Amino acid sequence: MLSLRLQAVASFVAVKDKVVDIGCDHGYLSIYLIENKLCQSVIATDINANALKNATQNIFRANLQKKIPTVLSSGIQNIQKYEFDTLVISGMGTNTILKIMADVQPIKVKKVIIQSNNDLYLLRKSLIKLGFFLKQEKVVFEKGHYYTIGLYNIESKKLSLRQKLFGIYNDSYKNYYHFLYHHLQDIYYKMGSKNYIKKIKLFLQIKLLTKYL
Ligand SMILES: C[S@@+](CC[C@H](N)C(=O)[O-])C[C@H]1O[C@@H](n2cnc3c(N)ncnc32)[C@H](O)[C@@H]1O
Repeated sequence: MLSLRLQAVASFVAVKDKVVDIGCDHGYLSIYLIENKLCQSVIATDINANALKNATQNIFRANLQKKIPTVLSSGIQNIQKYEFDTLVISGMGTNTILKIMADVQPIKVKKVIIQSNNDLYLLRKSLIKLGFFLKQEKVVFEKGHYYTIGLYNIESKKLSLRQKLFGIYNDSYKNYYHFLYHHLQDIYYKMGSKNYIKKIKLFLQIKLLTKYL
C-alpha cells in the first residue's frame, strides 16, 4: 500500500504525462503509477546506486522491468535520451531540489510535482525565478508529520507573500495551519530579545497566517 504522502504526489500525475521519478529510492511511486495506468511512461532514477538497485529489484518483482527503465543519475543529468515532460521530486530538502531544478528547462518540462521536507517559502519563491509556478498544493498528515505536495507548471501565475509563505489555501490545509500557528508562536515566545529583526519578521508571518485560520 502506497503511503498517503506518495498517493498525494501521484494524484497530481495525469494520464498523458511522461514522468521521471527523480530520487525514486524504493521505486514504489514508479510502480504504482504504471500498475494503475496513471501516466504514459515512467523513468525511475536515483543518484545512489544502492537505492537504484533496490528500486530495480522491486520493479522486477512487480514484473514491470520492460515498462520502467532505471537510470543512475543526479537529477536529469543522465536521462537526456529519454522522452519526458513531467518531473516528480519528493522526499528531499529544498536545497537539493533547487540544485536538481537548476538543470531543468521549462520548455522541455511542462510540469513538476514536488514534496520538499523543508523551507517551502524558499522553494516556492525560487521556482518562480526558474519559470515554474505553483498551481495547486495539498497537505497530508502521516505518521506524525505534515507533508506539503505542490504541482508546478509553466503557466505564469503570481503568488502573494502569504501564498509564498503558506501555500495555496484549500481544505487540506485547515489542521496544518492550526499546527503551524502554534508552532510559530512557540518559536516566537522562545526567541530571545536579541533576535529583534527575526522576531518582527516572525510576528508578521504569524499575523498573515491568522487570516487563514
Ligand atoms: C528520502 S528518499 C525519497 C524517496 C522517494 N522519492 C519518496 O518520496 O519516498 C530521497 C532519495 O533521493 C535520492 N537523491 C538525493 N539527491 C538526488 C539527486 N540529486 N538526484 C537524484 N536522486 C537524488 C536519494 O538517493 C534517495 O534515494
